[in-house]
Amino acid sequence: MADHAGDIFTEPEADPDTLRNLGPLRRMAGLWEGMKSLDVNLGPNGPRRQVYHERIALQPMDPQTNGPQLLYGLHYVARMVKPGAVATYHHQTGYWLWEPATETVIHTLTIPRGQTAMAIGHAAADATRFELRAERGSTVNGICSLPFLELAFRTESFRIEVTLNPDGTWSYDEDTVLMVRGRPEPFHHTDRNTLTRIEDPTPNPRMRRP
Ligand code: HEM
Repeated sequence: MADHAGDIFTEPEADPDTLRNLGPLRRMAGLWEGMKSLDVNLGPNGPRRQVYHERIALQPMDPQTNGPQLLYGLHYVARMVKPGAVATYHHQTGYWLWEPATETVIHTLTIPRGQTAMAIGHAAADATRFELRAERGSTVNGICSLPFLELAFRTESFRIEVTLNPDGTWSYDEDTVLMVRGRPEPFHHTDRNTLTRIEDPTPNPRMRRP
């Protein structure tokens, strides 16, 4: 993050056109689908592998300021469904944020298991691959879980790598490291998918320049 030790109140001027200011996140804006997936999750008798169908909407949000800090970003909602099923078996929402001044990417995620995390990484504005991390116990890129998860499935870390592919698709590869009660070894709950755009993003029509 930038060193804002001086003036912490004066806000910079933001460009209302979010899509022009998303750095490496620009290529992720829109509505996407993917079936080239693999989820490795925990079962009572060992790892379970599951293909899933994903639909993720990443829509531009209006610029945000924290005093001198300026953030552009996308709000997202993701739904993962087992092939042929109706129920969403993994639901996730949050933001992908970009701070141009420090070339920082921030990913917030909330899942209805009762868990929330914030992962941070650095990338150039034209990067086609970047990695973010969250660590249990950190107050800036941390993980917060409800008491049962802390007791039985303690999440130690979360890492996500994003690749923007030359054909316009993008892929992620993520690793959530869990300590399962009664098991000495960490468990790598991994997920990956490749997403194909099915609709362009929808900017806020009221934020257009006159
Ligand atoms: C595509 C993404 C993901 C899918 C499809 C998915 C799916 C699953 C499934 C099927 C389970 C086992 C459920 C059970 O037997 O109770 C599970 C467990 C778990 N997942 Fe994920 N997951 C995903 C991403 C994540 C992420 C990003 C996190 C956190 C950063 C996370 C945290 C957990 C935790 C803590 C558990 C253990 C809780 C439990 O088993 O009850 N998952 N996940």
